Order: sequence, then structure tokens, then C-alpha cells
Amino acid sequence: MTASHHFDVLIIGSGAAGLTLALQLAEHSQVAVLAKGQLEESASLYAQGGISVVLDQTDSLQSHIDDTLQAGAGLCNEETVRFTVEHARESIEWLIDQGVSFTKDGTTSETYHLTQEGGHSHRRIIHAADATGREVETSLLSKAKAHSNIHLFPYHIGIDLITSRKNLGQHENQCIGCYVLDIKTDTPLTFTAPITVMATGGAGKVYLYTSNPDVSTGDGIAMGWRAGCRVANMEFIQFHPTCLYHPKAKSFLISEALRGEGARLLLADGTPFMARFHPQAELAPRDVVARAIDHEMKRLGDDCVYLDISHQPKEFIESHFPTIYQRCLDFGIDMTQEPIPVVPAAHYTCGGLITNLNGQTDIPGLYAIGETASTGLHGANRMASNSLLECLVFARSAAQHIKQNQPFKDYKPTIPAWDASRVQPAKEAISISHNWDELRRFMWDYVGIVRSNERLHKAQLRLRLLQREIEEYYSQHHISSDLLELRNLADIAELIITSALHRQESRGLHYTLDYPEVDDSKPAMDTIIAGKF
Ligand code: FAD
Ligand code: SIN
Repeated sequence: MTASHHFDVLIIGSGAAGLTLALQLAEHSQVAVLAKGQLEESASLYAQGGISVVLDQTDSLQSHIDDTLQAGAGLCNEETVRFTVEHARESIEWLIDQGVSFTKDGTTSETYHLTQEGGHSHRRIIHAADATGREVETSLLSKAKAHSNIHLFPYHIGIDLITSRKNLGQHENQCIGCYVLDIKTDTPLTFTAPITVMATGGAGKVYLYTSNPDVSTGDGIAMGWRAGCRVANMEFIQFHPTCLYHPKAKSFLISEALRGEGARLLLADGTPFMARFHPQAELAPRDVVARAIDHEMKRLGDDCVYLDISHQPKEFIESHFPTIYQRCLDFGIDMTQEPIPVVPAAHYTCGGLITNLNGQTDIPGLYAIGETASTGLHGANRMASNSLLECLVFARSAAQHIKQNQPFKDYKPTIPAWDASRVQPAKEAISISHNWDELRRFMWDYVGIVRSNERLHKAQLRLRLLQREIEEYYSQHHISSDLLELRNLADIAELIITSALHRQESRGLHYTLDYPEVDDSKPAMDTIIAGKF
């Protein structure tokens, strides 16, 4: 007998997107929020640079829209971009109402410091020093913890969605909830709800080197795909140009805001190089900067390049970048005096479950918000600091839609219990950890910043062998969070490789040696992969 919970809304994920939605709905609904680790552990917690919003009088909504479209390399959905940009200011005001404290510019008690990042033609990044995500996540979480209608379930990992087609054999497909593993007690549970929302973040962990935390294994994209949702644009994986290069630093991010405040990228001999690659030099869009670094490292056989902001006054660096300054000092690097060694790392998943402006996916009753979703905002390349913005704007629009339409409000189906009768306890975990390592390494080597058909086919071949092993293991053994994540990562790898092979051109974040130019002979098209079920 599987224990079961029923709520009005089930939100899988407690990052900026999930918590914003929960707080927006809690007035009228009983909301469950699941997290697979501690509640605050999420990409949101580690966001540094800030959130893009037009606040400066010399800036305009049109300029933010134009910059986003430009970065997206012809693949943004213009309606989505406009919708997001137009709802930015009210989303930030809502955050401030929740107690989020952004850095002021010191001129008046009301005006905020705006920093600059790649691709933006104005200063429009509101931030909390260099730890914006921590300020947002912890403020929202303390509000959520205080609300009696929000039920928080840390260490509960979603296994698979429950749908009327797959689990009840009905013709009409509708999402009914999710099978969930309580990690602490090792117990499978059933969560049912008329509305389920995927807010599980991105999939950076599919690569060996990533700025993402361990929870970013693409679970929501994989679960939604397996349940029948279409997935778009998974070839567009953003590599952040500057993660700290140090054997003991686990891909710690060095914010793009440093370049916004004048930091230069240098080769080992101190030569600046970005102007050779783009007129905007250090503030070129991220794909350009990451590829330029990759190119220079490969050309010179170097392990890293350097980011230098030491020309700025010490007090400026310490007050604007306290977290980065301290972390670098922990590794023996004084960024006020010397350049920081940096390398690119996988950072952001532009693609995901296809949604409309309300966050609805293809399956009635299932929404997706935040990095899990593909709303059309980012196109072929996300502009810096547009991601937290998307989390906020779409969580708010999904909340509005859910409040207005609850077609399945009285739907309380009987769900078949999780069946563990045919599986055995796993004897050893070595094959799971080995497969985790192998998958992430070949994705890094063959499906990284620079791709080719040959590399993609090599990755595909290795993936097929792994997938066979994983499926066999999954069908024979008790589940664990490592096994669930590995299975999801393999699905994510399949989506990325298939999409990358499909795109026979280089556009935005997808660069292939076999088709090094944009294909202008036909209109730019999204890469869409049909749902698996
Ligand atoms: P997340 O914040 O990643 O939250 C995911 C949640 O889902 C977690 O609670 C996790 O436990 C839960 N979860 C996942 N799988 C399951 C499962 N199977 N079952 C149950 N729960 C699950 N963007 C900006 O706009 N500005 C920035 O300055 C910025 N800086 C960044 C810096 C870093 C280091 C990183 C990694 C990203 C940065 N980004 C930034 C990107 C941005 O932070 C993320 O895109 C955004 O926070 C994603 O929020 P989210 O709510 O969608 O997911
Ligand atoms: C950064 O601070 O460089 C990250 C900003 C982002 O990913 O949007």
C-alpha cells in the first residue's frame, strides 16, 4: 500500500519559480512544494549577477526587448519576449514586497544600483551585491515556511508523473500527480493534485563541468517528456564563460557583472583578446565569449584564461563582489591585486518543456515554469539575468491562470500504487556512479561548446549502450535518488544530442564545425521533439 497525499496544487521544485508560484496561490489553495534536497538548495540560491528590469530613465522596454531578441539569434518568440519584459517591473516590486533587499545606488533611499552584463545595451540588472539568488531564495522561503497553506516536503524526489493515459489507460491525457520517493525513509509515495507544476530547474549536471548545483539534473524535463510533453531547443546549452579554475573549486561562478564593471579577459601573458572576436569585446553575448575562450585555450594549449578587475579600487571590489572576493581569497587568489583564473562551464538549459504564456504544457493539468520550461524567451541564447526574470513572470502568470481555471478541481481519481513487487535491493552502487561519470564526460568531450557530426554520433553510440544498461538496472532494482537522476540525465543527453544532430547550422549556443554558419536560406525554426509516451 503506497501512502498518498492530495493537494489542490503540487509544485515540484522550491527554487525561485516554485516558491513564487506557491506564494501567489497560497491565499486560496492548499499547495505542496517538493524539493529533492534541502529546500533552499537550487540554482536560484547561487544566482549572482541579478535580474534584468528596465528602471533607468534612459533605458526603455523596447531596448530590453531588442537586446533579448538579438542575443536569441532569431529564435526568440517575440510575443513571449514582450510579455516578459513588460511584466518585469511589477515582478520586481512584488519581490521587494516579499522583503527582498536589493543594493541601492546611494543617491536616494529609493533608487537601486543597476549593473551591466553581456548583450545588454543599458545598465538594467538589479541585484543584491553579488548574491542576488541567495537574497531572493531565502526571502521567499521564509515567507513560504510561515504560510499555513504551503506544505513543504524537502528530500522528496519526483519519480514519474501520473497521467490518465499512462496510469489509468484512458484515451484523454491529463496529469493527476506524481509518484515520489521520500529519500529519508526510502518510501515511494503518491501525490495527487488537479494541477501539477514542474519547477525543477535546469540540467547542467549532464556535463562534467558546470556552474549548476547537484540538484540540476533535468528531472522535470525528463519526466514531462516521458509523460508525453513536447520538448524544444535542447541543443542550446549555455556555457558560462567564467567559472573559477582551481582544482578544489567546484565550478564556482565568477559573475558576468565583473565584466560589466570593467573586468578584462586576458591570456596567460596578460594580452587582452576579446576585441579580436566581437566589437562588444568582454560584453559580447555569452556564446561568443565562451567560444572565444575555448578557442584561445585550445590554440595555446592553456588550461584557463584570466579575468582581471584589479584596476578597480579595493573598496569597490569588496563592496560589489563580497562573495566572489571571499571565495577567491579562500583559494589564495586576491582579486584586488591579481587576475582570476577562469574557464567556461555548462550553465543554463535554454530548451525545455514547451509552454504557453500561462505556463501550460501539452498535457492538461501540467504546467512548467522557470528553467524547466521553454517559453520562447531565450531562443538560441539566453541573455544574462533574463532567467530569474522568467521564473518570476511565468510563476505569476501561471498562478493567475490556475486561479481562474480549475477544470479538475473535484477530480480525485484512484491511483494504482507504486509497484515494487518485481525488483530487488541493489547489491552495489558502482555501476550507477560509473555511468554517471561516463555520461557527463562524453557529453563534455563530444557535445560541448564546439560540436561536429562525428563527435555527436560518438556520443549517441555511447549513450545507447548506457541507456540499455540503465533501463535494465531500473527494471530490476529498488530505486534510489542517484538511479532516478541518472535515468533522467540519460534522457536529457538523448534530447540534447538528437536536437544538436537535427540542427544543420550554427546558431546561438549551438556551434558545429560541419555547418559553421547560420542557415539564412529558410526561416529559423525551433527544434521540437515529440513526447515519448
Ligand atoms: P532551481 O532554482 O534550480 O530550483 C529547482 C528546484 O527543483 C530545487 O528545489 C530542486 O530540489 C527541485 N527538484 C529538481 N528535481 C526534482 C525532483 N525530481 N523532485 C523534487 N524536486 C526536484 N539567472 C539570472 O537571471 N541571474 C543571475 O544572476 C544568475 N546567476 C546564476 C548563477 C549560477 C551559479 C547559476 C547556476 C545560475 C544562475 N542563473 C542566473 C540562472 C538562474 O539562477 C536559474 O535559471 C534559476 O534560478 C532557475 O530557477 P528554477 O526555480 O527554475 O530552478
Ligand atoms: C552571472 O552573474 O554571471 C550569471 C548571470 C546569469 O546567468 O544570468
